[in-house]
Amino acid sequence: MNFDEIKDRRDLYTSKWGRMEQFCGVSPDTGIAMWVADMDFDAADCIRDVLQANIDAGFLGYGYHTDDVCAAICGWMKEQHGWTVSPDWIRFSHGVVAGFANVLATFSDPGEAVILFTPVYHAFFSKARAMGREILQSKLVLRDGQYHMDLDALAAQLTGNERIVTLCSPHNPGGRLWSADEIRALAAFCETHDLILCSDEIHMDLTFPGARHIPTAVAAPEATPRLVTFTAASKCFNIAGGETGFVIIEDAALRARYDVIQGDRGSSPNRFGMQMTKAAFTDGAEWSAAVRAYLAENFALWRNRIGALPGIEVMDMSCTYLSWVDFSGTGMTPKETTGRLHSAGIAMSPGAQFGDGGEDWHRFNIAMPRARLEEAIERIEGAFADLQ
Ligand SMILES: Cc1ncc(COP(=O)(O)O)c(C=O)c1O
Repeated sequence: MNFDEIKDRRDLYTSKWGRMEQFCGVSPDTGIAMWVADMDFDAADCIRDVLQANIDAGFLGYGYHTDDVCAAICGWMKEQHGWTVSPDWIRFSHGVVAGFANVLATFSDPGEAVILFTPVYHAFFSKARAMGREILQSKLVLRDGQYHMDLDALAAQLTGNERIVTLCSPHNPGGRLWSADEIRALAAFCETHDLILCSDEIHMDLTFPGARHIPTAVAAPEATPRLVTFTAASKCFNIAGGETGFVIIEDAALRARYDVIQGDRGSSPNRFGMQMTKAAFTDGAEWSAAVRAYLAENFALWRNRIGALPGIEVMDMSCTYLSWVDFSGTGMTPKETTGRLHSAGIAMSPGAQFGDGGEDWHRFNIAMPRARLEEAIERIEGAFADLQ
């Protein structure tokens, strides 16, 4: 484990570096990629070993849904999150967003609405729109530097066309860990308004030392008859190229409905993703603890320096590596702050992508070797030097 090592990964078909020029207008030769949510770190040895065994065997063909991967997931959920999951509640998908699409197809029809607490992960919008679903944006409220759901305001927005609420827990962007009380209040809201509650917990294993993620199923077991959780090892173990996520549905009737769509759309799971998931959840705890400690230190450095720039506020976070930064105090338009960052070779994610409330913000991926992060910080300080 050497998270300080800087490696050149530009020629490996990586989305983060390979599409940076196209999407951000920043050259990968001179710029720093702070957008796509991959970490610039080597994956754990236990994961690379299982891939190597496949290479050595020379076999790169199909896989299947295996009980031992489910057993590894159940073991991890119990040990790390205090959640007792039964293997038969698990359904694999080609990534979490694909699981989200299955959930939309199962529990809503075109023209019906999904509720998103914004600003939030942008693929929820693109997938829902691509599937002809309406989106009701419930703007998160900033209080004491943290986001909060405003369920009273949301109740007033409802039209009766809504079918699904998606909770991003931990929240992306902003790294917010929702409390058990907040989750319970949302579960009660879903019950009152007869909504399916989808909990995206893909960032569950990126809590900083001392912080704790509470699965929705643990915080609000009463939500079981309407609860679908989707998650993966991909984000937290840096193996998203394995395109493997899974949906956990405890309620048998909900699961039966989901299985109809999964049967329609499903194909065999990604064989490499399955093996990587098993390795991560069986032997990855040490790597996971080390990467979180490193990320927490990166965040402390980042917040101290970027947060010291006049007019720029870094949202405090205790989870994820996706730092959410408010530029509204600079008095500049989003176009100007974006232009300055891009000119400095910083390829971040513009806040408007994340929906209502994100316009004046930008999201920065800080999961990189410390020396590279220092360089990114210096570039940003330089880009806004006139504010000093
Ligand atoms: C909240 C959230 N859900 C889902 C995903 C993507 O999941 P997948 O690549 O498995 O589709 C991301 C990626 O950053 C994310 O932040």
